[in-house]
Amino acid sequence: MKLLIINGPNLNLLGIREKEIYGKQSFDVFYKNLISKFPDINFEYYQSNIEGEIINKLQEKGFSVDGIILNAAAYTHTSLAIADAIKAIKTKVVEVHISNIFSREKIRHKSLIAPYCKGSISGFGLKSYELAVRSFL
Ligand code: DQA
Repeated sequence: MKLLIINGPNLNLLGIREKEIYGKQSFDVFYKNLISKFPDINFEYYQSNIEGEIINKLQEKGFSVDGIILNAAAYTHTSLAIADAIKAIKTKVVEVHISNIFSREKIRHKSLIAPYCKGSISGFGLKSYELAVRSFL
């Protein structure tokens, strides 16, 4: 099984950025540990701060991989273009968030991508990604 994890803007700063919300661990360290837990899964990881690059990646991989785990970060709340890309591709996408977006500012309560995703996981810290992986098994 091939799974692609896509992280959106500012998630390259995990472990440095707003640690009280997103934790102390860098994604690199977490990712190494995650892939070691699922030796039968072929993982790919992509991060971009740029909306169009995330769309390009969804289009590039969205007809070949078995699942996509997407943390679109702030684009979750703003990007109709990413929502359209998820709608356009064949591969199922699971939305993830490290923080519980529903317990934060009102502007974060709305996800434009959620209606086109297989499901959404929010609020379990980096564990949200592991739960998303398990949802594909
Ligand atoms: C986030 C939540 C978003 O509201 C925020 O803009 C992020 C990260 C999360 O993982 O909790 O950058 O997607």
